[in-house]
Amino acid sequence: MNIRPRRNRKSETIRSMIRETQVSNSDLIYPLFLLESPQASIEVASMPGIYRLGLNKMLLEIEQCLKLGIMSFDIFPVVEEKHKDKTATKSYDPKFFYLQALKKIKKEFPEACIITDVAMDPYSSDGHDGLVDENGNILNDETLDILAKMALAQAETGIDIIGPSDMMDGRVGYLREELDIHDFSDVSIMSYTAKYASAFYGPFRDALDSAPKSGDKKTYQMDPANKREALIEADLDVEEGADFLMVKPALAYLDVIQLLKENYDLPIAAYNVSGEYAMVCAAAEKGWLDKDAIMNEILLSIKRAGADVILTYYAKDFARR
Ligand code: PBG
Repeated sequence: MNIRPRRNRKSETIRSMIRETQVSNSDLIYPLFLLESPQASIEVASMPGIYRLGLNKMLLEIEQCLKLGIMSFDIFPVVEEKHKDKTATKSYDPKFFYLQALKKIKKEFPEACIITDVAMDPYSSDGHDGLVDENGNILNDETLDILAKMALAQAETGIDIIGPSDMMDGRVGYLREELDIHDFSDVSIMSYTAKYASAFYGPFRDALDSAPKSGDKKTYQMDPANKREALIEADLDVEEGADFLMVKPALAYLDVIQLLKENYDLPIAAYNVSGEYAMVCAAAEKGWLDKDAIMNEILLSIKRAGADVILTYYAKDFARR
């Protein structure tokens, strides 16, 4: 035997010298859930260790994360039922707590990269990402107007990146144009390019209380069986001016991450979603898996598949270690 691959595994020094993939704090984006009541802090039952936070608590959380080296945050609002309506009016009301809070967060931590979510579901009485007509259809082009108002209102708060997660056709170009017309050409777009109609979003919908009131999201989110369709979505997003292409979920879609990485030169983001986090926590609670070891391995796999950026609920824990 003149070839013995084990020689390159014989010590930690050699293993780390030749390690091909590295996950670092700067790769990670930490999703956060914002409550209206400033002092509130409520754990998400299906996501142990993840809390919905009021503004005061969130400012402390962000401060801690920045000290640990986590610099980017994707902030989602938890909207009370009484504020929801068919057209997601609160999503572009500058007095609404989410927009007010974003402004304060950005002012307090200008060095933090703040990402917002553009989709109707947290504010919609139908619980859908788009406008729903009387027959239960999701109206694409009518939704774009609402998303544009939402994106503009978010841009006004000084945030860095918007994340359209709605999967309406044409929204990246529509939002890009709207931002540019209003002098927000510096605001980036992290497009949810290949967002699948996935059962892995369950715990997130618990956290936001945003599950669809009827029907499902299959007429706008992608079929988990499809891979080539991700190329169609990615072509459109590139043409329409996206700055990042995202694949979501991550773990069950590593092939899609790799496909986009090989075919596009924009940075690839992957969303390691709520259900992926919850299942690791559940197994760890039973003593069946080592949570930290598994989460590290998952992040490494997502990075190895080609993600440049990973949105993960594990970000703070990762940085702590
Ligand atoms: C909504 C949105 C969802 C997630 C991010 N933005 C849920 C959905 O589409 O129903 C899921 C994130 C997660 O599961 O962690 N536009």
